[in-house]
Amino acid sequence: NLTLYFFSNIMNEIRVFSPATVSNVACGFDILGFPLDSVGDEMVVRKTIAKGIIITKIEGYDLPFDINKNVASVSAMALLDVAKPDFGFEIEIYKKIKPGSGIGSSGASATSSVYALNELLGRPFNKLQLTEFAMKGELISSNSEHADNIAPALFGGFTMVKSLNPLEVLQLPTLKDLFVVIIHPQIEIKTSESRGILPKMVSLSDATKQMSDLGGLIHALHTSDYKLLKKSLNDHLVEKHRSKLIPYFDELKSKSLAAGAIGCSISGSGPSVFALVKGKQMAINIELIFNSIYSKSNIDFATYVSKISSDGVIAI
Ligand code: HSE
Repeated sequence: NLTLYFFSNIMNEIRVFSPATVSNVACGFDILGFPLDSVGDEMVVRKTIAKGIIITKIEGYDLPFDINKNVASVSAMALLDVAKPDFGFEIEIYKKIKPGSGIGSSGASATSSVYALNELLGRPFNKLQLTEFAMKGELISSNSEHADNIAPALFGGFTMVKSLNPLEVLQLPTLKDLFVVIIHPQIEIKTSESRGILPKMVSLSDATKQMSDLGGLIHALHTSDYKLLKKSLNDHLVEKHRSKLIPYFDELKSKSLAAGAIGCSISGSGPSVFALVKGKQMAINIELIFNSIYSKSNIDFATYVSKISSDGVIAI
């Protein structure tokens, strides 16, 4: 039926889910990350007759409507500068990931808009190009060029940013029983501040240990070796500096590892802390441990349990 075919091919509106992401993943500062499958933002994007971008609605958190200040519109405009369609788009943002949480809130915003526009335009760009556009949005939020939240959100699964210039992204295998448990203490740590406290130089012996652990992790993912994964999830470069900003970090880490977590470290630039675990029951146990540690403090917190998403951002 030609009429039906015609109408089904005109897509004027799309709703997307854009996942939260854990970046760094202990052994891959600024280059490694994975998306969650049950925590993320939603966005509705609609074609408009007027050219350009307009943000018509923001729910969840207080973010700018100014298209030059909102991460989602800045990345969308980077795409439009190249695509140059003779129409425009309006964006509704349903923000569920709290900004400054360390689970890729700005990355999710930057990703959802470029993904949605690309779908509505008939997919002129590949995921690598979308990552380049999204990085323009991430840049205004964190003041640094890194793609370890955006690339996992766009590509899905464990993702490694092999190089920023030229941009090169590697998709790594994900172990099927892996779960992630996250605790988000509701204290504010700005990415710029959390990057600012890091030393500019690291020792040769720390660099050597880090190379060996990153190599170990990649081999573990390719060979489904949980034991090697456990031995490899170490951060010799940044955790010791940033963990001072996160109350109870040492307790979260030591108790979750003692209870059987595969690894535990800071998610992105913090304050969220993540544990990787094997199996749902272990995930529930570790969430209880995280809960009990923070329940005795007067800091508000949220916890999440999720599988690792192999899709990343999707139309819903
Ligand atoms: N890799 C970055 C950092 C992630 O650790 O600063 C920030 O979202």
